[in-house]
Amino acid sequence: MQVCRTVSDCRNTVRAFRRAGETVALVPTMGFLHDGHLALVAAAKARADRVVATIFVNPTQFGEAADLDSYPRDEARDLRMLEAAGVDLVLIPEVEEVYPKGDETIVETTRMANILHGEVRPGHFRGVTSVVARLFNFVQPDFAAFGEKDYQQLQIIKRMTRDLGFPIDIISVPIVREADGLAMSSRNVRLTPEDRAAALVLSRALDAAEAIPEKTTQSLYDTIADMIGQEHRATLRGLDIVAAETLDDISGPLIAPAAIMMSVEFGGVLLLDQRVIQP
Ligand code: PAF
Repeated sequence: MQVCRTVSDCRNTVRAFRRAGETVALVPTMGFLHDGHLALVAAAKARADRVVATIFVNPTQFGEAADLDSYPRDEARDLRMLEAAGVDLVLIPEVEEVYPKGDETIVETTRMANILHGEVRPGHFRGVTSVVARLFNFVQPDFAAFGEKDYQQLQIIKRMTRDLGFPIDIISVPIVREADGLAMSSRNVRLTPEDRAAALVLSRALDAAEAIPEKTTQSLYDTIADMIGQEHRATLRGLDIVAAETLDDISGPLIAPAAIMMSVEFGGVLLLDQRVIQP
């Protein structure tokens, strides 16, 4: 596995892949990898001949400087994991190369970035699209893999890719779950054993919503809110039921796929889960 710290080194290697007639998939990360990232790599490997991963803790998507400073980093461990997963090339660019001095160009999906999670994290998705557009341009891949766990991010990146005409297929990678249904997250280790057991209510509530025979936004909402409400360790922080592709508000009987996005707190640990539900 080759490790590049400049965009020009990365481009030289990607050019060599292309000269050999190989396709390239990109897996952008902010490092401190977990199984969810390895699922992105596996999906990328299944689609393309070569996989390029990036490790870049993107300053523009953090609200508070303190969050950026305290973001966990372990490059040596990340590189071991990426190599074991079969990644061909890792780009670890400097902040100054991603955002050159005097940089003033932002990329923003003006509506989708500022609804739902974007309402409580102003500027976050603008930072994500601004960096992902740059990474697309640096690597120029055929495919790029993103997780469905960050559902709003995934839809925003699909929209940006379409709007800007990037010739890149976005691979949507399903949430990786523990055997008992809990969505994998680096936050799960912070749950007490009691909260870990209680957190199964998230996937059970999604199962129950999916099983409703004649779905309306109200019946989906009530089913989930009731189940979470009955779990005394859980506090429902957010529950949105929106059009799966556009993230628009919907109401009444379900006539097209809808995304259920929820955030639930257990003893100070906020867990996210989501599912796309068919009518
Ligand atoms: O999902 C992430 O880890 C980040 O938002 C991404 C896509 C790597 C952009 O910094």
